[in-house]
Amino acid sequence: MGDILILYYSANGATAALANEVARGVARVDGMHARVRTVARVSPNTEASEPAVPVEGVPYVDHDDLEDCCGLILGSPTRFGNMAAPLKHFIDTLSGPWLSGTLNDKPGAVFTSTGSLHGGQETTLMSMMLPLIHHGMLITGLTYTADDLLAETDSGGTPYGASHVSGAMGDRDLTEIERKLARNLGERVARVAARMAD
Ligand SMILES: Cc1cc2nc3c(=O)[nH]c(=O)nc-3n(C[C@H](O)[C@H](O)[C@H](O)COP(=O)(O)O)c2cc1C
Repeated sequence: MGDILILYYSANGATAALANEVARGVARVDGMHARVRTVARVSPNTEASEPAVPVEGVPYVDHDDLEDCCGLILGSPTRFGNMAAPLKHFIDTLSGPWLSGTLNDKPGAVFTSTGSLHGGQETTLMSMMLPLIHHGMLITGLTYTADDLLAETDSGGTPYGASHVSGAMGDRDLTEIERKLARNLGERVARVAARMAD
């Protein structure tokens, strides 16, 4: 029926692990497919230092991915309470899709990974929602009733989106509840997109 674009940046793998769980959630919905994409790193003194196609791993996103998808889920590590520059750098190329309403009326959602529990998950999730709203998307969070946010979460997991706490050394695996909530987020966006297609 359609593709849900999961677009993330991850320097050390924690956000990538969360993206995999979100993709598994998308695949739970009949006819829905997770299209997983990433963005190149950026540095202060160069504009285009990476090859156009990554040597290995997840492909880089392009504007066609936005056109093709029926929903978009953005993920980024938290960087000083905000999304990471490589993801923002890509978002800043989206004047064309913004003008043509490419993402209008499509469901959108967000996920993040922090080093510490109170290190800015919600602010980062909100920072990723802002451009989605400018692009006319319908924001989809997690629900307290279906997702056990109230009773179970003592690491990652917020009503604003899925999240993970990777620890000071970045070596904490996803907990079972973090995995579950990430899958639920992917499933919810896919379900909403499927209903809208009906
Ligand atoms: C420049 C920089 C800024 C960071 N800022 C924060 C922060 O504000 N709060 C926090 O808890 N962790 C912060 N971290 C830690 C990362 O968010 C954390 O290690 C995350 O899990 C990395 O995800 P990744 O493995 O997908 O790259 C920061 C890391 C870097 C490199």
